[in-house]
Amino acid sequence: MCGIIGINSNRPVSSAIINSLKKLEYRGYDSAGIATLSDGTINEIKSEGRVDDLEKNSLIQTIQGSIGIGHVRWATHGLPNSVNAHPHSSQSVSVVHNGIIENSTLLKKFLVSKGHIFKSQTDTEVIVHLITENLKTLSIIDSIKKTLKALHGSFALGILFKDQPDLIVGARRGSPLAVGYGPNENYLGSDSYALKAMTNKITYLNDGEFCFIKKSNVEFFNEDGKKINKKVLELSNEEEKYEKGDYKHFMAKEIEEQPTTLKNGINEYLDTSNTDINIYNFPWKISEISSITLIGCGTAYHSCLMAKYWFEELTSLDVNIDIASEFRYRKKKLKNETLYVFVSQSGETADTYAALDLCNKNNMKTCAVVNVIESSIARESKFVLPIHCGTEIGVASTKAFLGQILILYILALKIGALKGDIEQKTFKQKIKDLKQLPNLVEQTLSIDHKIQTIANTFNDVKGSMFLGRGFSYPIAMEGALKLKELSYIHAEGYPAGEMKHGPLALIEEGLPVVVLAPRDNYYKKTISNMQEVIARGAKVLLITNKSKDEIVSENIWEKIEVETANEDLLPFLLTIPLQKLAYYSALNKGFDIDKPRNLAKSVTVE
Ligand code: F6R
Repeated sequence: MCGIIGINSNRPVSSAIINSLKKLEYRGYDSAGIATLSDGTINEIKSEGRVDDLEKNSLIQTIQGSIGIGHVRWATHGLPNSVNAHPHSSQSVSVVHNGIIENSTLLKKFLVSKGHIFKSQTDTEVIVHLITENLKTLSIIDSIKKTLKALHGSFALGILFKDQPDLIVGARRGSPLAVGYGPNENYLGSDSYALKAMTNKITYLNDGEFCFIKKSNVEFFNEDGKKINKKVLELSNEEEKYEKGDYKHFMAKEIEEQPTTLKNGINEYLDTSNTDINIYNFPWKISEISSITLIGCGTAYHSCLMAKYWFEELTSLDVNIDIASEFRYRKKKLKNETLYVFVSQSGETADTYAALDLCNKNNMKTCAVVNVIESSIARESKFVLPIHCGTEIGVASTKAFLGQILILYILALKIGALKGDIEQKTFKQKIKDLKQLPNLVEQTLSIDHKIQTIANTFNDVKGSMFLGRGFSYPIAMEGALKLKELSYIHAEGYPAGEMKHGPLALIEEGLPVVVLAPRDNYYKKTISNMQEVIARGAKVLLITNKSKDEIVSENIWEKIEVETANEDLLPFLLTIPLQKLAYYSALNKGFDIDKPRNLAKSVTVE
């Protein structure tokens, strides 16, 4: 992951670098650092923890220089401490890096044999020493070329040279990198988001390219060192101000914003008469598509799992889903008649991007369901369906999940209708029902107090299980993921019907088990599975929807009822109490809700 910033200017740059690093913390927040150049000296300050901790370092006020680089880290090699924090510097070069150098052990051996002394446990430090070594005999451009060729793995780099007061080098393979243009100054950033406060004129580097950022111009090179011209893109210059407001955490705000996320999605894709779905400029004939493969990671993968149920029910397509890190390396046959859909909030997730790249290189039909429309995945997919949920800051995805499943549901409905797999009458009724969803979510959000009380029970538990069948199974998976990432409690999401094939052995007196049993086709079966865990001592929190019918079950510990909707839409409503349960249980434990330990918002390493 990690975030990179570089500024080459005529004004002092340290505070602008710090401000940009604050924006980049969604990429990693275990340590941060800055290096500037002044009077032929590289000034380096690094600190463990957040950018705030770096800012508190008394030396930061004194750091001079109108050219510099900065970094926020998500540790891959070596502990998250100040020694391993970037930048890493030798006598002549300072480097910030995002990615992983896979042959670092071998390169380090070679460099140690040449007399280089390493200070950190990182893979990045080999880049510093390799450039330093190459500079002994080569020009800057040749030493960069030679260094990049020697590196295996993925990288985005920002490089500062002691003897070059007007040069930052940027280079990219695998990990994204952008260049920004300002008045008498130019910038380097892991993405346009980091640069948006300073400029809306951006160029994205492609794989293998590198660039020389000077104060007055930027030169681009391909991997052979041949100069190339690149397009300057003009992004919208509205910088979205996204504040916490009266909320304690962004996550709390983002949970409450979900009715708006759904309204935005519905307004974007449903036509004004609310009887049809508009998906403009879809580049393929529907008859060319007979199967769909949905790919994502983490919560985005759960969106794919959810969508599988809808695509199977509403369309005649063969439906496959895949975890991006598995998809990208499996030996498989890609198919022309398959629509490959890449689901990602950030649009920068390295594994999802690599899976997309693989499909693009094989000339497949690729479609992105993303939130960040300027992201790499959005830019490189042949078709994009934005989810329009606005900035999501909380590392644990909430509104983006509902946004993703909404768009996937809409896509399933549209394809089903186009292929004649669902009747027009059913299609129109489902659209009508969908219009009610934001209100139903709004009402469900009001079950708050009860969840806060229930969350107290999760204070001291060793573990928990989340069970569901059918449409509720993906939501059980998502609920378990939210609880584990926020409150660090082991939580297992499982298909309720699978319990007897092994996991039932985990059930013991007092183990909290969250059972999702809305009144759908699976209801009776799930209730039977719930009885089986109650019989073995589980403390069951049942989440269902409101109904006149009594629940035929005794010994339930607690019950939460969400609003009632058509079966397709119940997963949206069931998600709400699970998000809140995770939120309040982390709040009780005093954990950092918006930045849980060991995680990052944008996972740009594989
Ligand atoms: C969990 C969570 C992660 C992300 C995953 C993919 O709450 O947020 O599991 O869903 O890292 O990220 P994107 O959607 O940006 O590709």
